[in-house]
Amino acid sequence: MKKILIAYWSGTGNTELMAKRVAQGVTDAGGEALLKNAAETTPALVKEAAALAFGCPAMGAEVLEEGEMEPLIAALGSAEAGAKALGLFGSYDWGDGQWMRDWVDRMKSLGAQVDGEGIIARLEPDDDSLTRCYELGKRLAGKAELAL
Ligand SMILES: Cc1cc2nc3c(=O)[nH]c(=O)nc-3n(C[C@H](O)[C@H](O)[C@H](O)COP(=O)(O)O)c2cc1C
Repeated sequence: MKKILIAYWSGTGNTELMAKRVAQGVTDAGGEALLKNAAETTPALVKEAAALAFGCPAMGAEVLEEGEMEPLIAALGSAEAGAKALGLFGSYDWGDGQWMRDWVDRMKSLGAQVDGEGIIARLEPDDDSLTRCYELGKRLAGKAELAL
């Protein structure tokens, strides 16, 4: 069974709800979901995973959370993320999703195969966003099998 790493940061729980739903999709599709906070995620864990999902809300001024998620992402190179299926997700409030567009571009520049445009949810994710997270988990588990 292939390991799918779901690494996230969430201050008030909105992005955490999304992460848990991605993990459920992975499990239901027969994958092994490794659900981790950004703080407990190392580049080595990212490298070992067959496919990836990263979650972080818009923070600062349209950037990733700077204490834990930004250092993790900054530590990744093509050795960890290159050619890997990767889903991005996160919650936001008053912006227009710029942080997610920037994050997608950044991960593509490492060579990751980023799934779509990332899943964004305004504040607490609604049923539609959560369903999209679940479907992402199922796709990642499927891609992980194909990558064998
Ligand atoms: C310090 C701080 C900075 C934020 N900056 C932005 C921002 O730049 N753009 C935006 O759309 N929302 C911003 N937000 C709103 C959060 O993205 C939003 O509350 C989100 O639901 C938090 O997700 P979480 O529950 O996973 O922590 C900010 C929130 C905080 C606390």
